[in-house]
Amino acid sequence: MAGRFAVPGDKSLSHRALIFGALAEGETVVSGLLESDDVLATAAALRAFGVRVEQFGPGRWRVIGGRWRSPDGPIDCGNSGTGARLLMGAAAGQGITATFTGDASLSRRPMGRVRRPLEAMGVRVEGGQTLPLTVHGPVTMGIHHRNVPASAQVKSAVLLAGLGTDAEVVIEEPVPSRDHSEIMLAAMGVELERNGAFTRLGRRRTLTPALLQIAGDPSSAAFALAAAAIVPGSEVTAPDMLLNPQRSGFVMALQRMGADVALANVRGQAGETIGDVRVRHGPIFGAEFTPEEIPSMIDEIPILAVVAAFARGETRIEGLDELRHKESDRLALMEQGLRACGVAAGSDGDTLVIQGGSVVGGADIRTHGDHRIAMAHLVLGLASQQRVTVDEAEMIATSFPTYVGAMRALGADIAQTA
Ligand code: S3P
Repeated sequence: MAGRFAVPGDKSLSHRALIFGALAEGETVVSGLLESDDVLATAAALRAFGVRVEQFGPGRWRVIGGRWRSPDGPIDCGNSGTGARLLMGAAAGQGITATFTGDASLSRRPMGRVRRPLEAMGVRVEGGQTLPLTVHGPVTMGIHHRNVPASAQVKSAVLLAGLGTDAEVVIEEPVPSRDHSEIMLAAMGVELERNGAFTRLGRRRTLTPALLQIAGDPSSAAFALAAAAIVPGSEVTAPDMLLNPQRSGFVMALQRMGADVALANVRGQAGETIGDVRVRHGPIFGAEFTPEEIPSMIDEIPILAVVAAFARGETRIEGLDELRHKESDRLALMEQGLRACGVAAGSDGDTLVIQGGSVVGGADIRTHGDHRIAMAHLVLGLASQQRVTVDEAEMIATSFPTYVGAMRALGADIAQTA
């Protein structure tokens, strides 16, 4: 594996750029947008809210924001938890009524965590603890929201709902989650006071249109960087990657495992930090990861588990309960997938324990429609003794439609089976 990896735009930033642009009166222009199924579902939702959202070049989008209207039919968020949760909060803040639905996986994911704070803000919500749910704005009250478990989606939903009131809106985060919403809202003129674990919405709660450049997605780059760490002879660079501290846990984890990692061109971009990350193959060793470290690499745990399978010695990853509530039960699926590939992996409560070494592979992995389970096992197959097959590979398009091409360009042997 060698070369510069074509890192797609960050998924979290892409959803936010479209949604925040749709809330800002006037024209917001976005470049480097991730054009994946999840983000396209958010674009379609915004159109249903009466917002003009259009592509005018590869990765280049224009959003003409303003007041939203209640849509004529249900909003299908597809596979996307980020889309669903952020849009629920934003719709409440806009004072409209909307019903949210999703695919089979999204329909199983917990929505009580968004419903509860919205209801505390005076929003009427119909339905249960999962989609479909109907949100009836407006927001009539403020909130002091304690963000436990640490969820950037829930925090963002509360902030977006809070734009629809003048009442006090405070978020308290004992463990920090990604703060892209805070950074992008501030860049678009919203007043936010940030003080340690506390974030408070200020007086100015309207957004100004902006030119937004989306940095590379560290959660997607992680697959190529992991491959470089475990495939002998590799050297891969992921350029212009988002290096927000709440998203850099995987790069730090590689370093802690002894991988040859270098950062270059580190710089600021609209309040975020970005830079190039280079990983070279070399010896890697098992390590321990504690619960407080997990939010900064929550989406990278499947690929971290794969790296651990090739590291010398034992890796323990603690505090993985949230992994059970992602697009699939990722804790169970990684344990099963690694075992099917001949790796001694086990879980003890919400801790994953992996004995690394050489990996046999040779398994047909059932991904349960989870894009990251598919991509992680394909990377495992690049370094295992026997090839690995994954099912439902089309789901990779939810976050990374160009994955196979980008990996092949580095020299990966990935073939489509009949
Ligand atoms: C995201 C937050 C995380 C992450 C997801 C994207 C976001 O989810 O897993 O892929 O964009 O805010 P949680 O908020 O559920 O932790």
